[in-house]
Order: sequence, then C-alpha cells, then structure tokens
Amino acid sequence: MIDAPIAPAGLRNSEPILAVLRHELADCTSLLEIGSGTGQHAVEFAENLPDLSWQTSDLDENHEGILAHIENAGLTNVMAPILLDVRSANVSDAAYDAVFTCNTAHIMSFAAVKKMLRLVATSLQRDGVFACYGPFKQGGNFSTASNANFDQWLRQRDPESGIRNLEDLDILATDGGMQRRRVYAMPANNLLVIWQKLH
Ligand SMILES: C[S@@+](CC[C@H](N)C(=O)[O-])C[C@H]1O[C@@H](n2cnc3c(N)ncnc32)[C@H](O)[C@@H]1O
Repeated sequence: MIDAPIAPAGLRNSEPILAVLRHELADCTSLLEIGSGTGQHAVEFAENLPDLSWQTSDLDENHEGILAHIENAGLTNVMAPILLDVRSANVSDAAYDAVFTCNTAHIMSFAAVKKMLRLVATSLQRDGVFACYGPFKQGGNFSTASNANFDQWLRQRDPESGIRNLEDLDILATDGGMQRRRVYAMPANNLLVIWQKLH
C-alpha cells in the first residue's frame, strides 16, 4: 500500500453522499469529478458504483495523492486525474453524463465558480446530472451561525473565497441550460444540490 492522503471531513461525509449518488446517478455511466482533492471520495464512490466510469481531476498539486488512492484501490472504473483548473480548462463537449464536485465552490473565487458552472454545462450531455456538495446560503442567509463563522474564516484566509448563495448558482446553471432538481440536507449543515442539463 502506498501512503495516501486522508481528509477527516471526507471520512465523515462519504456515506451520506454515496447514498444520494446511488439514487441520482443510477442511470449514469461516465462522470467527471472536479477538485478530487485527496482522491478518497473517488475510489470509495467508484467502488460502490461499479457501472460508473469515474474521471478524477484537480490542480497538479493533488495528483500524487489521488494516484496513490487509485493505485491502492486497484479499481478499473476510476481514472488517473486530468489536470483541470476550472479557470482555464476545456473539456470536450458533452463528454460526460454526470459531474460531481464536493467542497469546491466556497474555496474558489466567484469568478472561478462561474467558469466551473460553464465548464459543467459544456461537458454534460443532455439530461446529464450535476451534483454539487458543500455549504450554501439560501436567500442570502446562512443556515446556521457555524456556517456564518466558517464563511468569515474563509474570507479572512482568502477574501475571494466564501460560502455561495444557492440562487446565484441557479442563475449560472440556468445560463448553461441546467435546472435545479433537488436539494438534499446533509450532515454538518451542508447541502447536496442536483441540477440537470435540459438541452
Ligand atoms: C476543500 S478541497 C475539497 C476536496 C475534495 N473534493 C473533498 O471533498 O475532500 C477543495 C478542492 O478544490 C480544488 N480547487 C481549488 N481551486 C480550483 C480550481 N480553480 N480548479 C479546480 N479545482 C480547484 C482544490 O485543489 C481542492 O482539491
């Protein structure tokens, strides 16, 4: 076994996320993950969703860890990471029927979030699913004081980061021909939001 990075949050949230993905991605066969991070979600989810081909991606600095998880898992349906920075990436049109991203939108600048949503819209086939996990504001309001504190902490660290308003992502999704379908309440005041590509 190669040493592979582990994020404690990923250990806590993987089971509830997997339960939703099983249901929402039941008809999907090819998925792009944006910001795979440690790679631990990719191997766990790919192992449990064997009909899905899981393409990992991230900035270069995370590739070694993702590769270590993939190597250790020995799965045939999870692919080595592609270098994907949403600010500059191009993905082939309609290359995937699902896109998943976890805890990325509040880490990036809003300009990058806009580019991410454009990239998602381009890369999804008609009827494809975009599943996005993380903390969100709704109607401009934080759901809890702890999310408000987290937002403050994020912005002190990087003024361009911060918890996003779900309705702002809806606008970007609509611009890309996607519509919000469902919102799942998840542990630790996070949401798993599902959009679908309409055309
Ligand atoms: C908080 S981590 C989440 C990682 C993983 N998805 C998880 O849930 O454990 C944020 C991830 O977003 C990625 N990221 C940040 N900016 C990015 C960008 N411009 N393009 C693509 N990925 C980016 C980081 O490299 C990191 O892997």
